[in-house]
Amino acid sequence: KGLRLADRGFLNTAVLRSEITYIDGDAGVLRYRGYPIEQLAQHSNHLETAYLLIYGSLPTPSQYQTWRDEIMHHSVIHADAEQFFRSFRYDAHPMAILTSALAYLGSYYSEANPSLQGQNLFTKGDKPSLATMDKQIYRLIGKATTLAAMAYRVRQGREFVTPPTGLSYTGSFLYQMDHLGQENYVPNPVLEKALDVLFLLHADHEMNASSTSVLQVGSSLVDPFSAVAAGCASLYGPLHGGANEAVIRMLISIGKPENVPAFLEAVKKREKVLSGFGHRVYKTSDPRSFIVRKTADEVFKITGKDELLETAMALHDAAMKDDYFISRKLAPNVDFWSGLIYRAMGFPNDYFPVLFAVPRVVGWLAHWRQMMLQAGGVKIWRPRQIYVGAAKRDYVGLEDRI
Ligand code: CMC
Repeated sequence: KGLRLADRGFLNTAVLRSEITYIDGDAGVLRYRGYPIEQLAQHSNHLETAYLLIYGSLPTPSQYQTWRDEIMHHSVIHADAEQFFRSFRYDAHPMAILTSALAYLGSYYSEANPSLQGQNLFTKGDKPSLATMDKQIYRLIGKATTLAAMAYRVRQGREFVTPPTGLSYTGSFLYQMDHLGQENYVPNPVLEKALDVLFLLHADHEMNASSTSVLQVGSSLVDPFSAVAAGCASLYGPLHGGANEAVIRMLISIGKPENVPAFLEAVKKREKVLSGFGHRVYKTSDPRSFIVRKTADEVFKITGKDELLETAMALHDAAMKDDYFISRKLAPNVDFWSGLIYRAMGFPNDYFPVLFAVPRVVGWLAHWRQMMLQAGGVKIWRPRQIYVGAAKRDYVGLEDRI
C-alpha cells in the first residue's frame, strides 16, 4: 500500500551507507577506502589491500605480518573434503563446485552461525564476537584459493596438493594448481605478480550483484560461509563474473579481425551482446581495464601473444569509434582483457569466473563485516513489491475445471 513505483534492477536505490569503496562512474574513478586503485595496483598487493578493505586502514608491518600468517595458516582444508570434491562429475562447472564448496565449508564451523552458538536460544541482536568474525575472515580468504585449486584439479583427475608454506597468496594458489610432483617447483614470478594485480583489481566494487547477494543473505544473520556462497552463485552469471568467460567465447566465434564489422552489426540489431563492454556505474572507461591491459602485455612477454588478441584489439577499436556504443556510453569493463590474460596463462575458459570469485571473497567479507558492525544492529533485508496479479477469486475443484 502506498508503493507506486518499482525500481527494477535497483537503478536508483541506495541500500546502505558504506565507507569501503568509492566509484565515480562519470569520471572513471575507483578508490578503496580513499586510495586510488592505480596507486594500490602499483604499490600494494592483494593481501595488504584485503586488510585495507576489511579493516579500513593500511596495516602496520606487524599487523600485516599477523594478517598474512593467519590467512596462510588457515589455507588448509580438512582431508574429509576430498570426498566431497570427488563427488562432482568430471565436467562439472568449476563455479558450481566452488559455490557448493563454500557452503559446505560452513558446516565445519558452527561457531560462525549465531543461531547455533552454545545451548542458549538465539535472541535478536546476538552476533558473533569480533574475534569469531575475524577467524571466519581468515578461513574464508585462506581457504578460497585451496577450494578453487581443488575445483580445478578434480576435473583433471589429479591428486590434491596441500597448500605450501613460504609462498605469496597467489604463489601458493598457482603452486596448488600447477604442481605436478616436480621437486623445488616455484610458479613464474611474473605470472604470480600479474595474478596478484588482477586479484587486487577484483577485490571489491561496491554494491555489485554478488556483494548485494552476500548482504541480502547475510542480513538474516546466517554464517558468512553461506552468505559468501550466495555471492559466488550470483557471480556465476554471464552478466556479472561470467563475462570474462563470455568474452573469450565471443572472440572465438568472431574468429578474425575481418569479421568484426559483421559482429558489431549483429550487436546493433540486438542479435548479439558485446561481452566485456558496458557497466551499470561507469559511463566512461572502467579504470581497471587500463591496468588489466598493461598487465596483459607483461604476461604476453612470458607466455607469447594470445591468438585472439588481434581480434580483441580490432573489436575494441571499432566499438570505441562506433556511434551506437559512443551514444550509450559503452566502453570496455574489467572483463574485456582479463580473459585473454587467463587464457595465455593456461587456465581453461570456464575457470575464469573462479579467478574473479576468489579475490572478490575479500570485498564480500568487507561488506559483511561492515553490516554486522553497523550502529543499531543488522536490519534484515526485506524489500517490498507492487502486486499486479489476479484479484481475489474462489477455488474450483479439479473435476469442475475444463
Ligand atoms: N552490448 C550491446 N549493447 C549493450 C551492452 C553490450 N555489452 N551493454 C549495454 N548495452 C546497451 C543496452 O542494450 C541499452 O541499449 P538501449 O538503451 O538502446 O536499450 C543500453 O546499452 C543501456 O544498457 P543497460 O542494459 O540498460 O545497462 P545495465 O546497466 O542494465 O547493464 C551490464 C550493465 C554490465 C549488465 C551490460 O552493460 C552488459 O550486459 N554488458 C555485457 C556483460 C558484461 O560485460 N558484464 C560485466 C560487467 S563488469 C564486471 C562485473 O561487474 O561483473
